[in-house]
Amino acid sequence: MVLLMLCTLASAQKKSFCIECHVKLDDPRLSAPAKLFENDIHRGRGLSCNDCHGGDPNATTSEAAKDPGKGYLGKPRALDIPAYCGKCHSDANLMKRFNPSLRVDQESEYYTSVHGKLLKTGEQRVATCISCHTVHGIRAINDPLSSVYPLNVADTCAKCHGSSDYMQGLKIPTDQVVKFKTSVHAKALYQKQDLSAPTCNDCHGNHGAAPPGIASVANVCGQCHARQADLFQTSPHKAAFDQQGLAECLTCHSNHDIATPTDQMIGTEQGALCINCHQSGDKGFVAAGHMRSRIDQLIASIDKSNEILSLAERKGMEVSKPKFELKGATDALTHARVLIHSSSIAEVDKIVGPGLEVATKGHQAGLDALSELSFRRKGLAVSLVFIIFLAVLVFLKIRQIESRPPIAK
Ligand code: HEC
Ligand code: HEC
Ligand code: HEC
Ligand code: HEC
Ligand code: HEC
Ligand code: HEC
Ligand code: HEC
Ligand code: HEC
Ligand code: HEC
Repeated sequence: MVLLMLCTLASAQKKSFCIECHVKLDDPRLSAPAKLFENDIHRGRGLSCNDCHGGDPNATTSEAAKDPGKGYLGKPRALDIPAYCGKCHSDANLMKRFNPSLRVDQESEYYTSVHGKLLKTGEQRVATCISCHTVHGIRAINDPLSSVYPLNVADTCAKCHGSSDYMQGLKIPTDQVVKFKTSVHAKALYQKQDLSAPTCNDCHGNHGAAPPGIASVANVCGQCHARQADLFQTSPHKAAFDQQGLAECLTCHSNHDIATPTDQMIGTEQGALCINCHQSGDKGFVAAGHMRSRIDQLIASIDKSNEILSLAERKGMEVSKPKFELKGATDALTHARVLIHSSSIAEVDKIVGPGLEVATKGHQAGLDALSELSFRRKGLAVSLVFIIFLAVLVFLKIRQIESRPPIAK
């Protein structure tokens, strides 16, 4: 049947009485589809009303157009929409002709999602294809006006997941979107327009939307934070968290309202994460205290070097080289903050040690620059004294010459 539809594509595009009639109807329920369709990607690909709804696009009356003999399907029920869209989107042969790189697993993926599973049980409030993509004004996913363009996804999910009225009686909270909008990810996405930052579908999947299992979260985050995920996977926390049913990554960072991490999260002081689970005396507690003090030590050492190098610079000394080399120490600090995910003192020490050496060198370079400055000043003072001494001598000589009695002519 799809093939038959395709054969009629060319003629359907030329003239569609479906559109001609519908666009003029008074009832907005009937005219809006025809008006919106102007910007729909399906229209852009030469498809028309009857490619989804069936029927005869050449018929001039509603009755004739909707002849079931011409394959008229009518308006689908919510339950039937995935298959309605899937008749093309699950058909690899058909889709290949339009766009060989387009996936054809949306319908099958959809049925693995919580949305798809619940739809089958008759729950009509879940998202179907058109809740996320809209209908009659469907745009290419990379069109900034598409409802699933990265900057618009959260608002699309929010129609339901942000409304406690809509979700009434269902067990799940409705705070995901509000929380997400406060997150470090949302800041990167909306403020920096960094499209590599995740929005809802990057963590939940486009079509297989389900909460990731607690023991596979690291894989989700690890798509982008590979280093932290690898370190975590090989740390003692991996087995311990899985065993105790603690969610990977989220137990320390949360999922929707992830904040910018700070050094205060690590250590044994009030506010540190580690003391939620570790007590004075256990290995984790010792490690937490040690790692934090090593990080603090490195920061203090970098600050000290920066201070003295900046002082020398203000006094006009050339210190751009040691200043540049100090970057090695700040890199070590960044690296150490990543390495805490190994939960290993040795790993953190391995990088903090050399970092401290670089910082100490920077400090020494600052000291050297300052002592050279004072040496130059002393030199300048000595030569000044010498110049003044000479000037006085010359002055005295002139006085002496002028005070001689004039020579008689
Ligand atoms: C001459 C005008 C006319 C033409 C041509 C026409 N329609 Fe309609 N259509 C209507 C009217 C009026 C209604 C509302 C009454 C009804 O349901 O029959 C309607 C209703 C519909 C509905 C909603 C049905 C529902 O269950 O709510 C769909 C879908 C539809 N048309 C699709 C099409 C398609 C596809 C074509 C072309 C193959 C087409 N129409 C051609 C006038 C037209
Ligand atoms: C990509 C597939 C697709 C195309 C193309 C398409 N429709 Fe639809 N149409 C749907 C789906 C799905 C629904 C059900 C919407 C819903 O449940 O809210 C629908 C619903 C409708 C309705 C009922 C609206 C309502 O709110 O009850 C009308 C009328 C309609 N379509 C007319 C058209 C006309 C006219 C065209 C061509 C301009 C068209 N459709 C093109 C998929 C399509
Ligand atoms: C919960 C929301 C949601 C539902 C339900 C949904 N989609 Fe999507 N869809 C998306 C998102 C998000 C993208 C990807 C956007 C991106 O990659 O930037 C997408 C992408 C697509 C694409 C582009 C190719 C691809 O797979 O990346 C097609 C085609 C598509 N969807 C069709 C469908 C069809 C057909 C259905 C129903 C069976 C459906 N979608 C259901 C959200 C949804
Ligand atoms: C008659 C076949 C057909 C039907 C039915 C159909 N589509 Fe499509 N769809 C296409 C074709 C062809 C394209 C264009 C693919 C391309 O060129 O990238 C497309 C493109 C799309 C895209 C944009 C993908 C991209 O490249 O960005 C989305 C989203 C989409 N369809 C969703 C839907 C939804 C939702 C439905 C059901 C309401 C639906 N489609 C029904 C054939 C169909
Ligand atoms: C049309 C409304 C609607 C839209 C739009 C929608 N959802 Fe849903 N979603 C639901 C409903 C209803 C449930 C079922 C709640 C339950 O589990 O009882 C659900 C369930 C879920 C679940 C499973 C929750 C659980 O633990 O059971 C996830 C994850 C989810 N949605 C993600 C998304 C994402 C991501 C988007 C946007 C890309 C989205 N949804 C768009 C209505 C919607
Ligand atoms: C950085 C990854 C990430 C992003 C971005 C994200 N989620 Fe989640 N979400 C998760 C994880 C992980 C869980 C599972 C929590 C658990 O199992 O304890 C979850 C759980 C959920 C649930 C189940 C109910 C709940 O609150 O636990 C829903 C619904 C949901 N997310 C919707 C959304 C929506 C809507 C967005 C976009 C505004 C979004 N998520 C953005 C990772 C993410
Ligand atoms: C699709 C890629 C992607 C996914 C998936 C992802 N993130 Fe991110 N994450 C980013 C980007 C991009 C940034 C922003 C970097 C910046 O601009 O500071 C970021 C920032 C962060 C930050 C703050 C880093 C900093 O230095 O301020 C944390 C913490 C974080 N993510 C944790 C997580 C966790 C936990 C998960 C899984 C639940 C996760 N991320 C999933 C891409 C991702
Ligand atoms: C949600 C609870 C939790 C948090 C938060 C937590 N840990 Fe752990 N940690 C554990 C569990 C459980 C184990 C395995 C049992 C044990 O050895 O105490 C463990 C083990 C360790 C170990 C290995 C100890 C050994 O026996 O070899 C180290 C080191 C460690 N954690 C460091 C830290 C540091 C540093 C922090 C803070 C950044 C931290 N942990 C935060 C629960 C936690
Ligand atoms: C035991 C608690 C804990 C767990 C589990 C954890 N983190 Fe962290 N994470 C931290 C702490 C503490 C920091 C802040 C380090 C600092 O700034 O001194 C941090 C920092 C980060 C940062 C900021 C960049 C950086 O490394 O400095 C990212 C990104 C991040 N974590 C991602 C993840 C991901 C992804 C996972 C899961 C694979 C994860 N974290 C698991 C405690 C944890």
